[in-house]
Amino acid sequence: MTSILLTGATGLVGSRLLPRLLDAGHDCRALVRGEAAVPPGATAVRGDLSDPDALAPAVTGVDAIVHLAARFRTDDEDAIWRANLDGTRNLIAAAEANAPAARFVMASTSNVYDAGTPRPSRESDECTPTAAYPASKVAAEQLLRESRLTWAILRLPFVYGDGDGHLEAMPALAIRFGLHPAHTYSVAHHRDVMIAVGIALSGAMDGRIVNLADDAPVSVFEMAELAGSPIEGSTEPLTNPWSGRMDTTLVRELGFRPTVPSIRAAAREGIL
Ligand SMILES: NC(=O)c1ccc[n+]([C@@H]2O[C@H](COP(=O)([O-])OP(=O)(O)OC[C@H]3O[C@@H](n4cnc5c(N)ncnc54)[C@H](OP(=O)(O)O)[C@@H]3O)[C@@H](O)[C@H]2O)c1
Repeated sequence: MTSILLTGATGLVGSRLLPRLLDAGHDCRALVRGEAAVPPGATAVRGDLSDPDALAPAVTGVDAIVHLAARFRTDDEDAIWRANLDGTRNLIAAAEANAPAARFVMASTSNVYDAGTPRPSRESDECTPTAAYPASKVAAEQLLRESRLTWAILRLPFVYGDGDGHLEAMPALAIRFGLHPAHTYSVAHHRDVMIAVGIALSGAMDGRIVNLADDAPVSVFEMAELAGSPIEGSTEPLTNPWSGRMDTTLVRELGFRPTVPSIRAAAREGIL
């Protein structure tokens, strides 16, 4: 059993990861804001990433910190930087001062990679994003890498499943970001995020940035169709077929095998 502090426990990913961490037998605290509830078996620690006084007791005594909390579903760039960079800085400082031996596992994103990649993006690729969300994540990654902590960074793809509504949001995302219907994303089911976090908690990812994805990248068009919200197709050429796709050689070398190999497998299993 590992004693874990989870941040972002009320989010799309965290609310599905926390019950799985509890089922795996871990002792879990969750940093939550306001009166947000946590599942039975977890302990709520009330606080915000901006509040160092709340973070010190939150991290004291834990063996591991799984840091998911972030802002990105907003146009408020200051809020994005405050949560993702300043908030991560505060959490790292709290851990260095109060839980220096804790393993710090941070979620990052496939969005950090450059759109001009000539193949699926690799962890060793230089990342020079300009948009606030991926740029703040690269900056937060850098802080963690330079910290005195034992760390692992998991670059998550488009995460879906367990009725989270993310696939259903794809038509609106396609309009908002002008996505080509054939634009293809690496993806992973929530169940496999738990598998990857479990590997990170074991120490196998210590000191590494690791891409996570299942076996079958999937297009925006297919995602929308599987979500029951079809969009128009297109015969316009795609600018770069590799953009959005991550290389998963490393995570496989570290022992990861997706239990949900594709979105279609999830649909067959009834776990979209
Ligand atoms: N979902 C994906 O497909 C995906 C893909 C790639 C990477 N990721 C990464 O995975 C992580 C989780 O994503 P998500 O989709 O679950 O995000 P989400 O649904 O937007 O949830 C964000 C979580 O962060 C918390 N949070 C935000 N600002 C905070 C602050 N200042 N103090 C404390 N908590 C704060 C939120 O709490 P409240 O409920 O109180 O607002 C919420 O629990 C993020 O780091 C994201 O970059 C996700």
